[in-house]
Amino acid sequence: MTRVLIIGALDGELGQAARIAQARGARLQQADGVAAGLARLRAEGADLALCDLAHDVGWLVEQLAAERIACPVIACGRNADAAAAVRAIRAGAKEFLPLPPDAELIAAMLQAVAGEPDAPVHRDPAMTALLERAAQLARSEASVLITGESGTGKEVLARHIHRSSRRAGGSFVALNCAALPESLLESELFGHEKGAFSGAVAARKGKFEQAEGGTLLLDEIGEMDPRLQAKLLRAIQEREIDRLGGTQPVKLDVRILAATNRDLMAEVMGGRFREDLFFRLNVVGLRIPPLRERPGDILALAEHFAGRFAAANGLPRRPLMPEALALLLAHPWPGNVRELENTLHRAVLLAQGAAIAAEAIELTPLRLERPAEVAVPARAAATPVSHPVSALVGRRVEEVERDLILETLTHCLGNRTRAAEILGISIRTLRNKLHEYRAQGAPVPVGPGQVGPMPMLPPGFYAQGG
Ligand SMILES: Nc1ncnc2c1ncn2[C@@H]1O[C@H](COP(=O)(O)OP(=O)(O)OP(=O)(O)O)[C@@H](O)[C@H]1O
Ligand SMILES: [Mg+2]
Repeated sequence: MTRVLIIGALDGELGQAARIAQARGARLQQADGVAAGLARLRAEGADLALCDLAHDVGWLVEQLAAERIACPVIACGRNADAAAAVRAIRAGAKEFLPLPPDAELIAAMLQAVAGEPDAPVHRDPAMTALLERAAQLARSEASVLITGESGTGKEVLARHIHRSSRRAGGSFVALNCAALPESLLESELFGHEKGAFSGAVAARKGKFEQAEGGTLLLDEIGEMDPRLQAKLLRAIQEREIDRLGGTQPVKLDVRILAATNRDLMAEVMGGRFREDLFFRLNVVGLRIPPLRERPGDILALAEHFAGRFAAANGLPRRPLMPEALALLLAHPWPGNVRELENTLHRAVLLAQGAAIAAEAIELTPLRLERPAEVAVPARAAATPVSHPVSALVGRRVEEVERDLILETLTHCLGNRTRAAEILGISIRTLRNKLHEYRAQGAPVPVGPGQVGPMPMLPPGFYAQGG
C-alpha cells in the first residue's frame, strides 16, 4: 500500500486529491505545514508527499536532502500559480500536480511510485507454478531471496508475497540498495538520532522501523557494501537495529525479502558477498525466469499493458492486430517485462486507428542481445564487421569507453541495472561514470525509476503550468 503524506488543509481541492488517492488504495497521513510534515516523515516515512504550494516546498525539499530522507515531493496548486509551480520544481519538487485534481493523474503518480499494484499477470505454466510456490511461502515468515534478470518482475513478486502473507495489513517498504551512496543507504535503513551527522537536526526512523509489523524488501542486495552487509546481518540475527548515533537498540518485527539480478552465490565465492548473510537471506529462493523462457506470458502482459496505458492516457482501449502480436512473440526481450511495458507504452501513444498495428510496435535493436553474446562494442558494430576494433584506432580509450557506456544505457532504455550487467561493471561504477559524463555536458539517458519525469504523465503535462 502506498503511503501518502498530505501537507496542507484537507477542506479544499487538496482534500479532493487526498480522497482520490485514498480511493485508489493509498494510505493517508496529514500535516498542516512543512515543519509538521517533516516531523511525520522523520517519525513514520512515506512513499510520496503532496505539498500545497501555499507552503514552503523548497524548504521541505532542502531539509529532506540535508537529513538524508529520500521521499519524492509533489507540489500541488492551481494552474494560475505558474510562477510558484516553477519555483517549487526548481527547488527540487519532483512534479507539479494542478488543482483541482485529475483522478487519472493521481492514479498515474501513485502507480509510478508504487510500481504495479495488481497481482502479477501471468499465463505461462512456468510462471503459474512459480506463483503457486510463492503463495505457499508467503504464509511462512521465512526470508526469501528473489532472483532474476533485470525487469523480470522481482519487485512485483515481492509485493505479491507481502499481500498474500499474514503481514498484508502492515506496511510493505522497499529499499533499492543500489540507488543510494553508502552513507545515505545506512541512514535510510537504520534511521538516525539527532546529531548523528551534521544535517541530523532531529531523530528519524529508517526503513527497518517503518516496516515494523510488515515486510521490508532489500532490492539489489548484491550491491550492498561489506560494512553494511555486516550491520544488516546483525539486524537480522538479533532482530534489532541501532540507529546511527543511537545508544539503545530498537527491537523489530519485520519480514525480510531480498532481490538481486546477480548470481549471489558467485558473489559469495568471489568474496564480495558475506556467506553467512547469503544463507540468512536465502532461506528459500525464487528464481523468476526471463520472459524469453515463458513465452506464454508475452501476450497476456501485452494486453494488460495496452489496457493500462490507454486508461492512464485517457485513450480508448484498443486490441492488438495479429501482425503486432506476431512481432511481440518473435522478439527475445533482453529487457524482459520492463522492455515489453515500455514497448506497449510507446505503441499505445503511437497507434492510429481502431487497433494497434505492427507499425506502432517499435522494438529495440538487437545488436547487444544477451550479455554473453556481447563480443564487440556497440559503436564498432556499426562499422564493417570484419575489423571492428581497427575502426577504433586513433580514438582515446576514455572516449570509446564513454560511447560504449552511453550507447549501452540507451539500448537498455536508461535502465542502469541492466546496463551495468551487460557492461560487466558495478552499478556504483556506472553511476560514478555517468555523473562524470553529465558534468562534462554529455546527454545521459534517464530510465524508469530514476530521477526524471514520471513515466506515466500524459504528454503536454508540463505545459499546463504556463
Ligand atoms: N507479472 C507481471 N505483471 C504485471 N507487470 C509486471 C509483471 N512483471 C513485471 N511487471 C512490470 O515490469 C516492470 C519491471 O518489474 P520489476 O520492477 O518488478 O522488475 P525487477 O525484476 O525488479 O527489475 P530490476 O532488476 O530492473 O529492478 C514494472 O513496471 C512492473 O510493473
Ligand atoms: Mg527491482
